[in-house]
Amino acid sequence: MLLENRLAVVTGASSGIGFATAQRFVSEGARVAISARNADKLEQAARELGEHALPIVADAANPADMQRLYSAATAHFGRAVDVLVANAGISRQTPVRETSLEQFSEVMNVNVGGVYATVREALPFVARPASIVLVASLAANQGTKHFSAYCASKAAVVSLAKSFAAELVDQDIRVNSISPGVANTPIFDTLGMSEAQLLEWAKVIPMKRPADPAEIAAAILFLATDASRYMTGADIAVDGGMSGISPF
Ligand SMILES: NC(=O)c1ccc[n+]([C@@H]2O[C@H](COP(=O)([O-])OP(=O)(O)OC[C@H]3O[C@@H](n4cnc5c(N)ncnc54)[C@H](OP(=O)(O)O)[C@@H]3O)[C@@H](O)[C@H]2O)c1
Repeated sequence: MLLENRLAVVTGASSGIGFATAQRFVSEGARVAISARNADKLEQAARELGEHALPIVADAANPADMQRLYSAATAHFGRAVDVLVANAGISRQTPVRETSLEQFSEVMNVNVGGVYATVREALPFVARPASIVLVASLAANQGTKHFSAYCASKAAVVSLAKSFAAELVDQDIRVNSISPGVANTPIFDTLGMSEAQLLEWAKVIPMKRPADPAEIAAAILFLATDASRYMTGADIAVDGGMSGISPF
């Protein structure tokens, strides 16, 4: 097993990509601390993951919550954090003329401030070597109508991974990011999008379907393990060909 007895922390793991990642890590022998804000959903996720998962309610953008999370996870499992996946994120439709600075800041606070706090507060608790994976998005490199805040936030996540990697390379801590395209997760419910609309979007994907969250988790697993030991400061696109293939 690829993560036998390693300790992984996955933020935003009550659903979608985070949950699929935690599931994959557990199947590879890891002990996993999972976090999110909604306690009921998080506990349900932990029950599904089984005895090797520890749920800790924590807001990724709240440094005190994150300190409490790392402190509890390392105490409970009795070892430092080998793998950290900063996955928690939100998406909002923010047409520029109709979006207040407060609404813009909400997206930036969770998606950028949250990733910053997640990594910053982890550092006293991470093992050497360790792998940190930030979940960015295809949106980092593609302007999208009505999603300027989200796109900007994800561009910042790709950038943070590179600067964190530069700062931590001498400490045997690797930092990479992953950029999913469209994955079938509850994030689209929060945007008021139906599954039918998601399938409509999927028509422009070269592979003609959204990703299963498990397909994103597989790439996160690669970045988490020694298989990627010569990689740091990189971004991996897992997007059914959207970033690499012209629609023409
Ligand atoms: N699905 C896609 O097509 C896609 C594509 C590219 C990138 N992504 C990125 O992938 C990541 C996961 O998204 P998903 O699609 O799996 O969405 P999801 O199913 O909605 O999951 C988001 C998770 O993050 C948690 N979360 C949100 N804000 C949080 C906060 N402040 N602190 C802690 N946890 C928080 C949510 O739980 P609570 O609300 O209870 O906190 C939930 O567990 C996000 O960063 C997203 O931007 C998704």
